[in-house]
Amino acid sequence: MRPVLFAMGLLVTAAAGASFYDESFSLEELSTNLTFPVGTCVVSGSQDKFLVIELGGLAWLFVNGTKLDTPFLNISSQIAVGHMRGLKACAFDSDFSNHRYLYLSYMMRPDQADPTGPTTGRVSKFRVNESFTGVTEETPILGRVKSNGCKGHDINAIEEDVICNDNKGHNLGGLLMDKQGHLYIGLADDGITDGAKDGWLDLMYVQTPGYLAGKILRVTRDGKAVEGNPYYSGNQTSLDDNASKVYSIGLHNPWRMFYSEAWDRIFVVNVGEAEFESVYALSPGKNIGWPCTQAIKNGEALDDYSVCQKIANEMDAGFNSLWDSTKEGSPGSSCITGALQVSNRSWPAEFQEAFLFADYCNDYIFLVDVDRTKLKKLDEPADFASGMGTIVDFREHPDGYVYVVTFFPGAVHRIKYDKKATDGKSKEVIGSCSISALNRFSFIS
Ligand SMILES: *[C@@H]1O[C@H](CO)[C@@H](O)[C@H](O)[C@H]1NC(C)=O
Ligand SMILES: *[C@@H]1O[C@H](CO)[C@@H](O)[C@H](O)[C@H]1NC(C)=O
Ligand SMILES: *[C@@H]1O[C@H](CO)[C@@H](O)[C@H](O)[C@H]1NC(C)=O
Ligand SMILES: *[C@@H]1O[C@H](CO)[C@@H](O)[C@H](O)[C@H]1NC(C)=O
Ligand SMILES: *[C@@H]1O[C@H](CO)[C@@H](O)[C@H](O)[C@H]1NC(C)=O
Ligand SMILES: *[C@@H]1O[C@H](CO)[C@@H](O)[C@H](O)[C@H]1NC(C)=O
Ligand SMILES: *[C@@H]1O[C@H](CO)[C@@H](O)[C@H](O)[C@H]1NC(C)=O
Repeated sequence: MRPVLFAMGLLVTAAAGASFYDESFSLEELSTNLTFPVGTCVVSGSQDKFLVIELGGLAWLFVNGTKLDTPFLNISSQIAVGHMRGLKACAFDSDFSNHRYLYLSYMMRPDQADPTGPTTGRVSKFRVNESFTGVTEETPILGRVKSNGCKGHDINAIEEDVICNDNKGHNLGGLLMDKQGHLYIGLADDGITDGAKDGWLDLMYVQTPGYLAGKILRVTRDGKAVEGNPYYSGNQTSLDDNASKVYSIGLHNPWRMFYSEAWDRIFVVNVGEAEFESVYALSPGKNIGWPCTQAIKNGEALDDYSVCQKIANEMDAGFNSLWDSTKEGSPGSSCITGALQVSNRSWPAEFQEAFLFADYCNDYIFLVDVDRTKLKKLDEPADFASGMGTIVDFREHPDGYVYVVTFFPGAVHRIKYDKKATDGKSKEVIGSCSISALNRFSFIS
């Protein structure tokens, strides 16, 4: 998909209601009163609270399904919006009772007059107050250096901790904390290539481990490298070193991550170039391949780069994604924004351990069976639902419901299953691009 301008003024309400392939499912509305929401996050074990973040820098707390009137957090004055920028992802600490932190990633408002100019990104932890009504302090843990972009600035490339956003391209991706308290941080490639061969070449920094773009990092609560990371250089000095923080490289736009409790694995959805949309099981040191792969033609445009040749060989040897919609998808996908497995045992057996994938542009969710050992899809994707709006995040909360956040219209719903309703399997789900180009938020290109 090509980049389109992000125009806040052009909001329209998506028309059609949701339809599910199986009529035993329905949608329950929680709030339609949100402005460009992009994510939801939960406190592990809490059945009654969850947060929704908005691109413009607000976070809203929902208690027992009701959105509170005052914002939980408001960092709008610090945020750069427009293009693909804003407050992008949230995660509560996995051991919240001992570490009362909310982690957020956002693009910083540049100091210069032009707020759309080059800037940098940041990940911070915020201490949640005792009454759980707001946050008390912010501690930046990644991207501590704030700058109006990196090119042409006196930034010390060796010492400094900076997330560059010179190209105004894809910037910050998903956040996820594992049970050991390691925070996984998705960093997109800061690229707008738009099909030009030179564009791909410009993005080769994604293949450089120390450059904070096109990576998944694994860091401690303080943003330090985790010992045992694949590029960890093995001494205390290296805890702050960019490369030592890296867990996986070669990503285009790792929009969200998902932890499978059943399989004890982390998965990442990677919004790919053009119509490439992929889901990967994370493993230390895995090279997802961008920009060598998915470029003009896999391997061909960049085969003079030895790293690209190596990646092409690994792919020939079977190293690849769980599922890649362009090669295999039916219907094809154009912007993947979520993956999950349903653990709620009251859903039908076919859903247990199968994956649901959400597509932003095409406004549908589909179901894919995956071989647990080979980490490959087993069958062609089956329709599950469409017509909810542009899905930017979806996840199962501790209350056992799957929550769906849509950008247009700005809403949160949850999926309800009631097996008594019908014997199911009656509606046709149509996966077509139902959102007009002007109203898409371009996470992608
Ligand atoms: C929508 O939320 C805003 C706060 O963001 C509030 O001022 C307004 O009253 C709400 N409107 C409705 C209809 O709930
Ligand atoms: C949410 O609802 C549950 C069950 O009705 C109740 O026990 C709990 O106190 C409520 N939580 C809040 C914060 O009101
Ligand atoms: C958030 O803060 C900004 C100023 O930084 C203010 O203008 C805005 O009204 C606040 N939003 C809400 C919903 O409180
Ligand atoms: C919690 O945080 C909010 C927002 O910062 C503040 O207004 C409130 O006083 C705090 N409450 C406690 C008990 O710290
Ligand atoms: C860390 O990443 C930044 C880009 O985000 C880069 O400018 C810098 O050179 C990297 N530092 C090291 C030590 O690799
Ligand atoms: C420790 O790590 C730093 C940063 O990677 C490196 O420059 C230095 O040579 C290492 N020192 C030793 C003793 O390995
Ligand atoms: C599971 O899903 C059903 C139907 O949507 C719901 O009633 C139930 O509360 C959910 N949670 C659990 C823990 O079963």
